[in-house]
Amino acid sequence: MAKQILVTGGLGFIGSHTVVELQNAGFDVVVIDDLSNTTIKVLDQITEITGTKPVFEQIDLRIKADVKAFFDKYQIDGIIHFAAFKAVGESMHKPLDYYENNLGSLVYLLQEMRDRKLDNFIFSSSCTVYGQADELPITEKAPVKKAESVYGNTKQIGEEIIEDATKAHDFKAIALRYFNPVGAHPTTKIGELPIGVPQNLIPFITQTAAGLRAELSVFGDDYDTPDGTAVRDYIHVVDLAKAHIAALQRLIDNNNKEKFEYFNVGTGTGSSVLEVINAFETANSLKLNYKIVDRRAGDITAAYADTTIANKELNWKTELSLETALKSAWEWQLKQK
Ligand code: UD1
Repeated sequence: MAKQILVTGGLGFIGSHTVVELQNAGFDVVVIDDLSNTTIKVLDQITEITGTKPVFEQIDLRIKADVKAFFDKYQIDGIIHFAAFKAVGESMHKPLDYYENNLGSLVYLLQEMRDRKLDNFIFSSSCTVYGQADELPITEKAPVKKAESVYGNTKQIGEEIIEDATKAHDFKAIALRYFNPVGAHPTTKIGELPIGVPQNLIPFITQTAAGLRAELSVFGDDYDTPDGTAVRDYIHVVDLAKAHIAALQRLIDNNNKEKFEYFNVGTGTGSSVLEVINAFETANSLKLNYKIVDRRAGDITAAYADTTIANKELNWKTELSLETALKSAWEWQLKQK
């Protein structure tokens, strides 16, 4: 019988792509989403891609009784937990909302796992836990540095909560530390749906190219990098989604080496903001309106992953290029009204 996997935040950007890959890999999927940062249409879009409609429950994971009632209803063999607030700037103005949502719901899920003897938990973490790492590329051995944002802190504390819980209780977990996820599904039926003015680079680029924004601001060209602009590791969201299936399978097969493990999920290649702009222009044969402005507060100089451990332990590697990601991001943008 197919294993039934709960995906929280399964209608979000990374969540929706992961639901597709889970279904492609033969899992049954139950999605929980509170629709606070996405739309129910994504469920139909997933169904169009895979031919199977995932089971859907609109639940706010901050309501403990609703979380309990969910687990009374469904038999769950693994959980991939995406549901969280993710806006760095907003997190500084609404710290308590971020702690309540990102950590409260995590604790409730883990309590249900403990009480019902469930297993196999995958957590959405972030390379933000490393801050500005002293050495590049960043390996999993790099120290976790004091978080610069409340959002980042919820990821650090989230990992600690999970680690402590796996020590005390009979379940195992993996945290995936994402670098910068970009792109859209090759069918362009699902992609990133930023609400309001995008904060992240790629949606800002595509909205500028589409004429929705007058120009892109490049935040700083005085960094200590080859062209002076900041460097990140941009990973195609489909490759990132597949890392979740690999991590889940590792836990299901009991191939994990520790009860709590964490892996970097990136491409291993750093690209500067100007390199991304050039790659976007070349991939899509267009010109982008941009100007250099001051640095953005809180930004680091450079971050890209050493993926050796993830490649080996998860038996996973990236397959899609930055060019492919930037093409799909643009095609996705063109489909938005
Ligand atoms: C940001 C968050 C990170 C989070 C991630 C989720 C901050 C400081 N970090 O990462 O914690 O996990 O999003 O996706 O917000 N840039 C521009 N112009 C723009 C937008 C961005 O030049 O209009 C530059 C940034 O300065 C940065 C790069 O593009 O150098 C990538 O920015 P972004 O997409 O926001 O990601 P991060 O800042 O790396």
